[in-house]
Amino acid sequence: MRMVDFIEKKKQGKNLSKEEIDFIVEGYVSGEIPDYQMSAFLMAVYFQKMSMEETVNLTMAMAHSGDLLDLSGIKGKKVDKHSTGGIGDKTTLVLGPMVAAAGFPVAKMSGRGLGFTGGTIDKLESIPGFSTGMETKQFFSQVNSIGLAVTGQTGNLTPADKKIYALRDVTATVDCIPLIASSIMSKKIASGADVIVLDVKCGSGAFMKDEASASALAKTMCEIGNGVGRRTMALVSDMDQPLGFAVGNSLEVMEAIQVLSGKKEPADLRELCLQLGSYMIHGSDSSISVKEAYERLEKTLEDGSALEKFRAFVQAQGGNQDVTKDFSLFPQSKAKQEILATQEGYITHVDAMLIGEASMVLGAGRAKKGDDVNLAVGVVLHKKVNDYVKVGEPLVSVYYDSEKLLEDAKERINAAFTYGPRANSNHKLIHQLFV
Ligand code: URA
Repeated sequence: MRMVDFIEKKKQGKNLSKEEIDFIVEGYVSGEIPDYQMSAFLMAVYFQKMSMEETVNLTMAMAHSGDLLDLSGIKGKKVDKHSTGGIGDKTTLVLGPMVAAAGFPVAKMSGRGLGFTGGTIDKLESIPGFSTGMETKQFFSQVNSIGLAVTGQTGNLTPADKKIYALRDVTATVDCIPLIASSIMSKKIASGADVIVLDVKCGSGAFMKDEASASALAKTMCEIGNGVGRRTMALVSDMDQPLGFAVGNSLEVMEAIQVLSGKKEPADLRELCLQLGSYMIHGSDSSISVKEAYERLEKTLEDGSALEKFRAFVQAQGGNQDVTKDFSLFPQSKAKQEILATQEGYITHVDAMLIGEASMVLGAGRAKKGDDVNLAVGVVLHKKVNDYVKVGEPLVSVYYDSEKLLEDAKERINAAFTYGPRANSNHKLIHQLFV
């Protein structure tokens, strides 16, 4: 077999067999296939796409390139949720305790991530004492005892994806549905979940800018997962404006605690978590309808059991559970400034990307692997799409450490808001369901 022949075949739009795809993935991981040939191949895939069968074969070749996690030490069905990433997305922090409080174990592996804020792990580390480093045995035993554990990624999962993703990043081949779908699903499959619920974001703050491409990605990932025996469902949710009000590490944890405490606001965050959680439960036990699962989850928010679960989880991982009662225990920024509305009218759009950039400029995010994140800084919105605002009303609170960075962030925040005489009737939280 010769790599050049497969590049040629894909360039002509022909389909590759399983053996040919295995050869490419194995050869690239072992170093026998050089970057220049893999780059050419990825560009050929970018233009010619892949059939569903090829996409499944690529996914499984990448999933098998490293360790496959064995979660059999955890009782019951293992359900995982994955978000394609967005601004202010703190759903894992709410979903984990809520779904666990409803009686379904959540064994979550999360990352630090690059982007406008840290990942789930960074956010959790804003809780004093909280640790996400744990041995597999401890991870399993915590899930079996309290129903919830969150750890950083363990083992050598999907090395092929790591190497291919790094190459895609520098060859302009990231935004290609078969490559994104196989990258995400290879990691989910290698992580051992039986049930996978995907939250595919669409809008200005997401990878997928429009509903059509987000839906195509969601559908492809569901077909991959279901095709290889993992019950997979997807929601396409809005990322035209940030999710919730808070964007920043500790600020997002505080907001998640408020939802877990039964607060009805932010309504979009609460609703998205209830919907995702309902599909997680229904996927684990099909005798429970989605509606019934939704009601069970709502009850955990109202009767305090979701918050209690969060406290038990924080304590089990070494954190100070008093943060749920006293937000001053979180890292605090040096200063805070309100940004006021300069116009009167309905807010018709809050550009998620610009708000994300503002939070990144303040120091909440990470531009490259290994960078530090500032856990205290970020922004909290007071107005979102379809709110009416008068001149001089607070629009956003900015939590910052440096005056110089504040000015840059403010410019982006002011540019993020669009006003109009009428509410935006096209706005919705859930765009599509693939269940
Ligand atoms: N996230 C991933 O894990 N892979 C991609 O290709 C894109 C987003």
